[in-house]
Amino acid sequence: MDFTDETAAAAVVDSFADTPDPRLRELLQKLVPHLHAFVRETRLTVEEWEKAIAFLTAVGQNCDDTRQEFVLLSDVLGISMLTETINGQQEGTESTVLGPFHMTESPRRANGDSIDLLGGKTPCVVTGRVTDAAGTPLPGATVDVWQCTEEGFYDVQQPEVQPPGNGRGFFTTDADGAFRFRTVVPSHYPIPTDGPVGRMLLATKRHPYRPAHIHLIAEAPGHRTLTTHIFVAGGPYLDSDAVFAVKRSLVVDFAEITEPERAAEHGVTAPFRMAEIDLVLERE
Ligand code: BEZ
Ligand code: FE
Repeated sequence: MDFTDETAAAAVVDSFADTPDPRLRELLQKLVPHLHAFVRETRLTVEEWEKAIAFLTAVGQNCDDTRQEFVLLSDVLGISMLTETINGQQEGTESTVLGPFHMTESPRRANGDSIDLLGGKTPCVVTGRVTDAAGTPLPGATVDVWQCTEEGFYDVQQPEVQPPGNGRGFFTTDADGAFRFRTVVPSHYPIPTDGPVGRMLLATKRHPYRPAHIHLIAEAPGHRTLTTHIFVAGGPYLDSDAVFAVKRSLVVDFAEITEPERAAEHGVTAPFRMAEIDLVLERE
């Protein structure tokens, strides 16, 4: 059969008919018509096709053990967040993207420890509980947290300035399912812009910023692992996150507290900020 713009998609779909893995067959046979429709609808030129290939080649060339430009591309196109959303928990805390900075193991820390090894400007206390969907506390759950500094940098981005493990901690919930740590309020920050994805943002007049957030992964035996963030209420970019990862339910008030007695309770000095979060895990 002649390969025409009308028959092209069907011919390629048919070519995958004998794929033994049924899911691989389904994915490929659904992908091809979408790709072909895009080329037909936009009347893609050969020059544009060459540019697209050069762009994707550059994305691949910017991937190594510590940099994943393809994930970044997926992030800024909203694909990471869409995948996260359709696979997320139905009843529990909403999930959001993992991001590229969970690349080193967080140091184990005791409840109440500080993850701010540099002594930032304003102390911040984060407390929370891990529960199941019925509200029953989950003692012995683990909560892995990582965040940037008040200046907007993760430890791995500033090895000369920050000790490894700054802004990171691996906590275990107590008998009440509770965890708590001291830190600083993270800043908003730009995603990496020195590669092809950054050039795409520039060419399309999109800003590269993410609103201020703390990353968390909560795990408990018999429950679905939750990968999420808490976002600092009132900060910039909550409505225009470069990677579309904000969910309203994850925006948390980091209240300013001025009473010295309350500061003493938490081992910090007033004024300080305080955020409270419940992490709800669904049964597996
Ligand atoms: C992050 O929050 O660490 C992040 C997420 C997606 C892309 C870049 C950074
Ligand atoms: Fe982040």
